[in-house]
Amino acid sequence: MSKLNLAVLFGGASSEHEISLMSAASVIRGLKKEKYNIIKVGITKSGAWFYLPDTEPDMIEKNRWEEASKRPCTISVNRESRGIVCLDDGEFLPVDVVFPVLHGENGEDGRVQGACELSGIPCVGPGCASSAICMDKSITKLVAATTGVRQAEYVLATKENFRNGAIIDEIEKKLTYPVFVKPAGTGSSVGTAKAENREKLHKAISEALPYGGKVLVEEFINAREIETAVLGNAEPVVSVCGEVIPSREFYTYESKYVDNTSVTPIPADIPEEVSEKIRDFAKKIYIALSCRGLSRVDFFINKENGEIIFNEINTIPGFTSISMYAKLFAACGVEFSELLDRIIAFAMED
Ligand SMILES: Nc1ncnc2c1ncn2[C@@H]1O[C@H](COP(=O)(O)OP(=O)(O)O)[C@@H](O)[C@H]1O
Ligand SMILES: [Mg+2]
Repeated sequence: MSKLNLAVLFGGASSEHEISLMSAASVIRGLKKEKYNIIKVGITKSGAWFYLPDTEPDMIEKNRWEEASKRPCTISVNRESRGIVCLDDGEFLPVDVVFPVLHGENGEDGRVQGACELSGIPCVGPGCASSAICMDKSITKLVAATTGVRQAEYVLATKENFRNGAIIDEIEKKLTYPVFVKPAGTGSSVGTAKAENREKLHKAISEALPYGGKVLVEEFINAREIETAVLGNAEPVVSVCGEVIPSREFYTYESKYVDNTSVTPIPADIPEEVSEKIRDFAKKIYIALSCRGLSRVDFFINKENGEIIFNEINTIPGFTSISMYAKLFAACGVEFSELLDRIIAFAMED
């Protein structure tokens, strides 16, 4: 069998650029070399694309990939030339499938997926529309509501309604302190905060608004955090549940990537019937959001009353071999390289 030309995209003009580098290094190390001809494409924080013929995963992980020999390139959106075009001499590299190992805006949000759809190159993960919806936590809520699964009560603050001040009163009418503030369009807990009073709420919203101009203010849930990994297209499978026990008051950027002290029991220590319910909800939400390939679907269990609450979905979840997504499937007997094969096969199936 001839090798598949697989373009791995990493970095990106995103607040999660550095996380993508860690994920990409793991993905490149995990891909079976006899099966894939890997075309490495690094995207800088300012959005410049480079083809990297020789960079190694170590250099990507250390955020030193830009030191390697690199050639400016772009993805073709032309159906008759599916691949990467080098902008220095016009060299064309045919691509059979794209793996956007990109987190957050400009990578996980449908933009890259849309470019692949224009050219007709299969792309790992949900398509353009689904990715865009899942990246926007406020639109995700509207779609996920069709499943009937409980979600946190919220008010949407925008640049406009925050400027004229009306939204603070509305929040205080609908919710009680503390509330949780998060940008609608980032991941990795960037821009999130807990606010205990009006003054802190004001500050938290102003700090979150620069990340895309839309901010969710939610009821604060004193919760256990349960995550599930979903894999597949029309008939997806759901992994066992895992729990995240953050090292800080909530699962901040620091507790995710800096401290490394959060504990993640897999499977989560919850009753079987609760786990079954969560896995069923995850599947329903994945299907309602038209996901393909993979996604991690995250829940809360309210510590006070046991209620299961859908929190968010990540269409390109953190993808190191020790990330939750990979660990959840490892616990189901699917090791990392095999998991990559399956995810790529689902992209080719479409
Ligand atoms: N309504 C809420 N109440 C309490 N904590 C929350 C709430 N929403 C989010 N959090 C905390 O913030 C973290 C990040 O929020 P999340 O919605 O998962 O966004 P991200 O895309 O940044 O991961 C969660 O893992 C959780 O610890
Ligand atoms: Mg999250």
